[in-house]
Amino acid sequence: MAPSTTHPSSPTLSSSPPDIKHPHLVLRPATIPERHHTWVLNKTSWKGILTDNAYYLREAHISSQDLTRNGGITYWILVDPATPCNPACPQSPDHILSACEAIRKPCLIARKNGEVEEVICYGIGSVYTSERHRGKGYAKSMLQLLGHQVKSLPDPSNPNESPRVGFSVLYSDIGKQFYHKIGWRPHQSSHISFPSKLPTSAPSSKAKNVLKSDLRALCASDCAHIRRVVTKTPFAPDVEARCVQFPTVEVMDWHHAREEFIGQYATSKAPTVKGAWAPIQQGAEYPPKEGSDGSDAAWVIWTHDFAEKKLVFLRLHAPTIVSSNESAVAEAIKQLIIAGANEAEAWGFKEVISWNPDDITEVAVKNVFGKESEGGYDLVHREMDSIASLMWYDKDGSEETEPAGIEWCMNEKFAWC
Ligand SMILES: CC(C)(COP(=O)(O)OP(=O)(O)OC[C@H]1O[C@@H](n2cnc3c(N)ncnc32)[C@H](O)[C@@H]1OP(=O)(O)O)[C@@H](O)C(=O)NCCC(=O)NCCS
Repeated sequence: MAPSTTHPSSPTLSSSPPDIKHPHLVLRPATIPERHHTWVLNKTSWKGILTDNAYYLREAHISSQDLTRNGGITYWILVDPATPCNPACPQSPDHILSACEAIRKPCLIARKNGEVEEVICYGIGSVYTSERHRGKGYAKSMLQLLGHQVKSLPDPSNPNESPRVGFSVLYSDIGKQFYHKIGWRPHQSSHISFPSKLPTSAPSSKAKNVLKSDLRALCASDCAHIRRVVTKTPFAPDVEARCVQFPTVEVMDWHHAREEFIGQYATSKAPTVKGAWAPIQQGAEYPPKEGSDGSDAAWVIWTHDFAEKKLVFLRLHAPTIVSSNESAVAEAIKQLIIAGANEAEAWGFKEVISWNPDDITEVAVKNVFGKESEGGYDLVHREMDSIASLMWYDKDGSEETEPAGIEWCMNEKFAWC
């Protein structure tokens, strides 16, 4: 069993937002047995193709990655202090009214006035109320408490420090209203979907396979690129601030820990190819050298979804387009699209997905598969599932309603949790 990421010294949240329906309820980190109870409760929603036991093992496995260990993830439970845990606990998890988890991630906020902050954000997931407690406002109360108080959580590796929390995100599978009403505003949630079967006219891909050992260099280079693009690109008139999560190697490893676990379970094989890389300039080096911002190559880091049998692009890195590199970038992205289709086909998947694609990616997909109107690909604007939603925290800690003009950059699948 993975080491616990919550411990007795974890904070019990105290202050409550004013309009909460159940002010007497308490939100606190789960103990190790309680954490297991939350998995017992929520397995019917999220175990997918796994058995119950395999699901518990997977959750333990992904909670012990670099991103999540040592306080990187906290499992929160809503409890009634008047109904203490049954002494027979861990056999009796009835005192858990609602549960969720929150993962700390590094991110950046850039403002129009030139101010730049490297802050923490929380990704909230696995929001769950057991069936017999549903419809009583428990999930809503839990999220109101967490959303209100998460911004002042201390750094678990250094409890005397409270690094600023800039925002929190979650990905709603129950439409746009539930979370919006309590402060998480829905943002663009689209994806492009193209088949794994390439048309006979498609050239073979010249892209290079990305291996796990190269992810650290690729992610560092991509983060340098993102830092520059998000802070230096001129702001559109209606944008006041930009926020972005960093696609670090720890974030990618967490996704890959999940895919490898399910891949082993479903097929007895774990994927070893983690993406594809294509040069844009002659002499581009793979993997990128330390300090590079990846302006000489494009690459994709992907994950295999064995439950839905799809290849999912976690992050597609391409340099900023200028007139001198436009056709080379377009050609490199085309190579990545073809490489993605080949990888999906090799696993017997029918589909490849990329979240919130930019124009040049859509054009590359069109060049390979033909027009959307002729069935070449689909551009889907999701309304119910994986709705990227954001709660904004002002610097003085007083604001929870997202002001107008916040641009969520690089809102791709890597940021999901
Ligand atoms: C979704 C879920 C967490 C809601 O828990 P709950 O404690 O019953 O929710 P609440 O009683 O706090 O409901 C609060 C509001 O959300 C609405 N709501 C509840 N479940 C909803 C759902 N599945 N879809 C849309 N709205 C929902 C309620 O109508 C209520 O609205 P109101 O404030 O306007 O009256 C619970 O149904 C659940 O665990 N479902 C399975 C797992 C899941 O889908 N989790 C969400 C993943 S994003």
